Amino acid sequence: MTFNAPLNANDRKDLINRGFSRRNLGKIAAMVTAGASMPFYNESALAQLSKVDNVPADAVMINSNENPLGPCTEAKEAAMKIVSQGGRYLYGETDKVAKIMSEQEGVKVSYVRVYPGSSAPLHQAVLAFTSPEKPLVMADPGYEAGGRAAAFIGSKVIKVPLTADYKHDVKEMLKQGGPNAGLFYICNPNNPTGTLTPKSEIEWLVANKPKGSIVMVDEAYTHISTAPFNTDLVAQDKDVISLRTFSKIYGMAGLRAGAAIARPDLLDKLGGWGAGMLPITGMAAASASLLQKNLIPERRKLIGQVRVDTLEFLEKHKFKVVPSESNCFMVDVKQPGNNIVTAMRKEKVYIGRVWPAWPTYVRVTVGTADEMKKFQAAFLKVMA
Ligand SMILES: Cc1ncc(COP(=O)(O)O)c(C=O)c1O
Repeated sequence: MTFNAPLNANDRKDLINRGFSRRNLGKIAAMVTAGASMPFYNESALAQLSKVDNVPADAVMINSNENPLGPCTEAKEAAMKIVSQGGRYLYGETDKVAKIMSEQEGVKVSYVRVYPGSSAPLHQAVLAFTSPEKPLVMADPGYEAGGRAAAFIGSKVIKVPLTADYKHDVKEMLKQGGPNAGLFYICNPNNPTGTLTPKSEIEWLVANKPKGSIVMVDEAYTHISTAPFNTDLVAQDKDVISLRTFSKIYGMAGLRAGAAIARPDLLDKLGGWGAGMLPITGMAAASASLLQKNLIPERRKLIGQVRVDTLEFLEKHKFKVVPSESNCFMVDVKQPGNNIVTAMRKEKVYIGRVWPAWPTYVRVTVGTADEMKKFQAAFLKVMA
């Protein structure tokens, strides 16, 4: 049973008690060995599902919600400066990120756990709080990573359609999740739609959810929108986990940094599945980014302008678009979305994927103004 090696006898007993079969244990062990962020799946892996090979060097890459601006100048300088110390375990760099975040977010430092991005804590939360009897409850269409991780290990997944105005249907999520719901996953703004769920509705879910279940709010894109964060619920010691990543507004998808913000007892449940030394380049860049006062409002404005211009263009040409507040949006192509994804690639414009729940919609990431001009020209051509 070497495959199960990372799970000790207590882990195995606990998992069997939670309703996992012995067959599931091997998969869980594989997930734990991989630091809970195996092939399943982060945004880039999901974008690759439709196999992006041999991308031309001059292609427009608006397929995986990256930030074309990349890290800010101060972050780049901090990362480069620390490279020469790369032979050291500088744990203090991680502590620095946690301290700055805790001050900025109004929570104790023990409530912040830093990760190399937010995929790992997302998967770890699935491991910690779901099982065959305790479902993951999420929106449809929604960010698939948690659902895929849950399905992989044998946990139950319940997908609840967004409301007609593209919010998480929290009442229906509560109803369908039932008394044994394990983890409610709310992504705000939602990936792929870029639409918001009002904070009052997230608060309603937190107040009404069954005892013992957890509400995880994925705030990967919140800085880009006008939505409030939910760290105040964490500070009030609710059963809430806020997930943060530096991959989006901070432009650090390749440099890697992120965090889970939650009560220490919840963080302990995540952390039991593995942690370790984090890359000091990512940590130094994260600290430097957090300290730039104008970065968020400037980038929010810039991304917002390009998004508004692009959506206006599409509406002017009579396409149906979903009103987004994020760095991605969905447009109805009135035919199987993958036809258009493929046709756009021939024009050297790589757009995002298609969700089975909305087969005629494609997701498009907001790139630079120049990239979106190329997108517009290619889109009109392939849709003609
Ligand atoms: C909603 C959402 N959550 C989490 C992530 C995880 O990203 P990362 O691991 O780069 O932090 C992504 C990536 O695109 C995302 O879209």
